[in-house]
Amino acid sequence: MKALVFHGPGKLALEDRPKPAILLTTDAIVRITTTTICGTDLHILKGDVPAVLDGRILGHEGVGIVEEVGTNVLDFKKGDKVLISLITACGRCRFCRKSMFSHCRTGGWLLGNSIDGTQAEYVRVPYADTGLRLLAPGLDDEAAVMLSCILPTGMECGALCGQVKPGDIVAIVGAGPVGLAALLAVKLYSPAEIIMIDLDDNRLEVARSFGATRAVNSADGKAVERVMALTHAEGVDVAIEAVGIPATFDICQKIIAPGGRMANVGVHGKPVTLNLDRLWASNITLTTRLVDAGTTSMLLRMVESGSLDPKKLVSHRFKLPEILKAYATFADAAKEHALKVTIKAGDLEPCQR
Ligand SMILES: NC(=O)c1ccc[n+]([C@@H]2O[C@H](COP(=O)([O-])OP(=O)(O)OC[C@H]3O[C@@H](n4cnc5c(N)ncnc54)[C@H](O)[C@@H]3O)[C@@H](O)[C@H]2O)c1
Ligand SMILES: [Zn+2]
Ligand SMILES: [Zn+2]
Repeated sequence: MKALVFHGPGKLALEDRPKPAILLTTDAIVRITTTTICGTDLHILKGDVPAVLDGRILGHEGVGIVEEVGTNVLDFKKGDKVLISLITACGRCRFCRKSMFSHCRTGGWLLGNSIDGTQAEYVRVPYADTGLRLLAPGLDDEAAVMLSCILPTGMECGALCGQVKPGDIVAIVGAGPVGLAALLAVKLYSPAEIIMIDLDDNRLEVARSFGATRAVNSADGKAVERVMALTHAEGVDVAIEAVGIPATFDICQKIIAPGGRMANVGVHGKPVTLNLDRLWASNITLTTRLVDAGTTSMLLRMVESGSLDPKKLVSHRFKLPEILKAYATFADAAKEHALKVTIKAGDLEPCQR
């Protein structure tokens, strides 16, 4: 089968790999129909996630058709259309019992990290009963694949960790797919203002169309002054960091109001400076979280009912043989006007766009 393989920082290749086989009785093999690229894959490519080793098939997002199940998979069978969650968990260990599925002792974020992932024709999904969700045959693949990672991330690591309440002033730093997913999640809690901050005017424009009330381009280094001016020098109630670099963490800690919540979403490859000398008296809460995907089923119900429309996050479409082009497009999002790029597997003829 064709698969996208990581060969160390900056190195990716589309290669022929053996089709995966069932290793444990709780596994399923899924034939991928649609996958996509996450900002986390870009961090892996930069070398920010050293756990990802040379030779790993990347990807933790996908929709597909069950090809085969292990003897202890109870809820899925060959032919089922499924959503693959980035988190596959045993459901029984100490951390699973605390609903921290991302920290499962034998599971968690494995796909495209410590085991081969979804940017391939087939993937082995461990703990299939918890890692898969059944999809109606007619549900749109592109809408569904946004539920593998980015929507639960925006909801859990952004809106829920930030404890967004009606009337809050919320700032989201980073208008990439994850920041935009956080925006969609935050809106469900009726904030008074959503201030979106990014370097990319196209993404800021999209954020406006998704309901951001203010857009701040931080390219001139003046984001903090702008946000303070917009908030009568008081700062924001919730600051969501959705980039993963020291500069954007710093913006969050400089705009947070007393009593505010800073929710870090970004994957960081370098330490940041925490200004406790200024913040110790500010009654702030700082959260970090690896998405647990505990909200996936709830978000899926919203997509099924039409109350959430994540397909609008898709800007570009590719087929698996073009996946290196898909990476180049996503990595150069500002020039390409890219948001989420989807990759169809299965029909391997180049895409007509
Ligand atoms: N915590 C989790 O479980 C989890 C899950 C998924 C993704 N993530 C992380 O979320 C982050 C966002 O993911 P994404 O897919 O949207 O990535 P992305 O790379 O598409 O988006 C990042 C955005 O940040 C903007 N940006 C870069 N530097 C900036 C700066 N100095 N000021 C303002 N904006 C700046 C870019 O223009 C871009 O729009 C990544 O770090 C990703 O690894 C975390
Ligand atoms: Zn992701
Ligand atoms: Zn567990």
